[in-house]
Amino acid sequence: LSEQTLTPDATQQNSVTPKLLAILASVRPGRVGLPVAEWFSHRVREHGGFDLELVDLADGALPPLDEPNHPRLRRYTQEHTRTWSAIVDSAAAVAIITPEYNHGYPASIKNALDYLNQEWRHMPLGFVSYGGVSAGTRAVAQLRQVTGALGMIPVATAVTIPFVAQLLKDGEVEGNETMDGAATAMLDELTELYRVLGQLRVHA
Ligand SMILES: Cc1cc2nc3c(=O)[nH]c(=O)nc-3n(C[C@H](O)[C@H](O)[C@H](O)COP(=O)(O)O)c2cc1C
Repeated sequence: LSEQTLTPDATQQNSVTPKLLAILASVRPGRVGLPVAEWFSHRVREHGGFDLELVDLADGALPPLDEPNHPRLRRYTQEHTRTWSAIVDSAAAVAIITPEYNHGYPASIKNALDYLNQEWRHMPLGFVSYGGVSAGTRAVAQLRQVTGALGMIPVATAVTIPFVAQLLKDGEVEGNETMDGAATAMLDELTELYRVLGQLRVHA
């Protein structure tokens, strides 16, 4: 979420190709999340159904929630909130890329979700999670509860990557058939959902 990525690309809002907003939740130095996000970005490009905008929460553009009003009112006082709002508004679908910390999601993604409200409503949602034996699935289970409160609509297929450390080769994630197949299925389902949900999205 650098200054650069914080400038919403107005052309994307009118383009024929819908935008997939991928949010990288992991923010710590040396994170595996970055190579996972790079692997997923390749899959999105190969799939071809979406333009990708990758927002990296490690860029620090979103401080801990600093808005005085409830987000559902959209009475934002901070420039970073208005920019984040525009980025999410212009997305046709969202993919959250997340590790699992202490059987839950990282605080960064909760903060990014809490900033907004209507912008998330009826948003097609996919998950890319990774970790050890549990592949981040407990983090995703918790995120389903939070994103459900915001009215986001998850697709059935998720990309779940167990033992992610074993897939790292020279700092890159080497995918496999299972991962590639899940990514394609998830992107297909997101495409189906955005086609019907797009008309329900609120753009105040
Ligand atoms: C604070 C912390 C808590 C963790 N808790 C879990 C956990 O509950 N379950 C799990 O499978 N892995 C856990 N791990 C291991 C992570 O799956 C692994 O470190 C992974 O690389 C984290 O993603 P990241 O590198 O993008 O931060 C934890 C790691 C950290 C740093």
